[in-house]
Amino acid sequence: MRIVEATPRMMEEYLPAILRIYARAHGLTPPMVEQRREIMLRHFQRRGFRGLLALDGKTLAGFAYGYTGEPGQYWYELVHAAMEPEMRREWLERDHFEFVELAVDEGYRRMGLGGKLHDALLDGRKEPVALLTVRMDNLPALNLYFRKGWKILVKNFRFSPGGPPFYVMGKILGANHP
Ligand SMILES: CC(C)(COP(=O)(O)OP(=O)(O)OC[C@H]1O[C@@H](n2cnc3c(N)ncnc32)[C@H](O)[C@@H]1OP(=O)(O)O)[C@@H](O)C(=O)NCCC(=O)NCCS
Repeated sequence: MRIVEATPRMMEEYLPAILRIYARAHGLTPPMVEQRREIMLRHFQRRGFRGLLALDGKTLAGFAYGYTGEPGQYWYELVHAAMEPEMRREWLERDHFEFVELAVDEGYRRMGLGGKLHDALLDGRKEPVALLTVRMDNLPALNLYFRKGWKILVKNFRFSPGGPPFYVMGKILGANHP
């Protein structure tokens, strides 16, 4: 198994495999997959983008990506609205890494790959903090994030009214905070 840092172009080449894993992991319908394709293509062009592919030979076993979050972006604005001013200043209104996606295909789980992708995605980042959203019922991911030092910043965060509740989580980056 190799974990490869991928250029945006390489992420695009692997996009069908990325979407297959993503759709299986999150139970997406074909129209939702199409929508996600457009979103990911936009994400790959963002400032500070880092993408990782876990390759078993030529087979994609997992992937992760993120970038430097910025005002005006969909996720930033929704999370901004959900935070108190002090929390915004501490976590959002400064350079921050947005930990956007992490997924490992079903046959490759519980072998440490998710943890490795997580660590490699954050390794050496210049932003002092990182942020993510995770569904409150996603216990595998929550266990992983707690183990890796993430803390809950906002509970019951929703991307749309009536949608499932998420946690907004934050992690301090840097040498003293592995
Ligand atoms: C979350 C996910 C990436 C974990 O990948 P993984 O390769 O299985 O993770 P690891 O083997 O590195 O496990 C790391 C830790 O995560 C936790 N964990 C992983 N799977 C778990 C499960 N099914 N139940 C409980 N805890 C789990 C454990 O704490 C585990 O450590 P341990 O194996 O020593 O107990 C994977 O389950 C996945 O792709 N899920 C679907 C996509 C997703 O939800 N992504 C996160 C979106 S925010």
